[in-house]
Amino acid sequence: MTQPDLILTADSAYLTPAIQELKSVDPGVQILGEIDQGIVTAVTRSGFFQVAEKWRQASPIFCRHIAPIQITLPLDNQEDDLQKLAKSVEEELLPFFEPDMSFSVQCRCLKGSIHKPFDLNNALATLIEENSSSPLNVKNPLQILSIAVEAECAHIGLSLAQHNLSNWAGGVHRFAKEKGQISRAEFKLLEAIEQFHLELPVRSHALDLGASPGGWTRVLRQKGLLVTAVDPGMLHKSLAHDKAIRHLPMAAEKYLTQYPDSYDLIVNDMRMDARDSARLMVKYEPYLYAHGEILMTLKLPTTDPLKPLDHALNILKEAFTVVQTRQLFHNRNEVTVYLRKKSNNE
Ligand SMILES: C[S@@+](CC[C@H](N)C(=O)[O-])C[C@H]1O[C@@H](n2cnc3c(N)ncnc32)[C@H](O)[C@@H]1O
Repeated sequence: MTQPDLILTADSAYLTPAIQELKSVDPGVQILGEIDQGIVTAVTRSGFFQVAEKWRQASPIFCRHIAPIQITLPLDNQEDDLQKLAKSVEEELLPFFEPDMSFSVQCRCLKGSIHKPFDLNNALATLIEENSSSPLNVKNPLQILSIAVEAECAHIGLSLAQHNLSNWAGGVHRFAKEKGQISRAEFKLLEAIEQFHLELPVRSHALDLGASPGGWTRVLRQKGLLVTAVDPGMLHKSLAHDKAIRHLPMAAEKYLTQYPDSYDLIVNDMRMDARDSARLMVKYEPYLYAHGEILMTLKLPTTDPLKPLDHALNILKEAFTVVQTRQLFHNRNEVTVYLRKKSNNE
């Protein structure tokens, strides 16, 4: 049987464009099958490392996570699978851990498996800590042991975190729900801030387009920014007495006619056709300081999302440097784009 050497994860609704992205960096790749929702195994032509290096330099949009498969280990879907996994990791992969580089173990138990990721992660992390000089760092590891456990086998691989597209198992980056949280959309902004390494200096001025009910505004305030929130809709009452928030209850198109201020950061989560939102963003370019940054979501249709996405990105490229476009774990039917102002010589 053909052995896979790569496991790819994407939002299941966007698996087809994610596979297309893989084929464009590795034209000979053979997709073996979808082993769970949005998760496929593949045999690459050029090898995991080549694909990962290409994507480290220019990340794909829809492919959320990849991991190498160095071992596919038959399992019985019974308690003693853990011993088999431990033996295989110890004998075949432990010698390849970089000493002194932090590690984490990321097990995913797929459909039909009786195992629990937490138990496997703990047992295998203990084994590695006891037998190597690599320190455990679950949140920010430099190397990752990735294990996808099916009912009948486990796909095991060791890689540098920078080659997996995400530091999280399958790219699933969850945040704890906070007291006072206004909307689930807050997770999207938190994930984007981490993904794109935004610094957000305290007291810098942010413009939040499409701000209602105020989740993103709340997150930006928590980080110490002053926020102008533009949306015909209301802001949540918990934001009403915050003097560092200015709510302009109008459409973003209308604010443009009212001599907008200049901003260090513009965020845009407007529910709007991606191309219209891109055109509107371009009109805001003069109101972004030269060092300014933009985070925006582009809403995608479920059928044939690539054409409107390409079109919207081309509109944005006329006015901005598109630093990265990613479908983040918290994006549903949309992608998040990180833009910077073009420098004078671009
Ligand atoms: C997904 S919600 C934004 C959620 C928000 N980011 C949060 O965290 O609470 C989309 C918002 O876009 C707003 N919107 C749509 N078209 C707009 C426009 N032309 N100008 C301003 N806001 C607009 C809607 O009123 C709606 O409140």
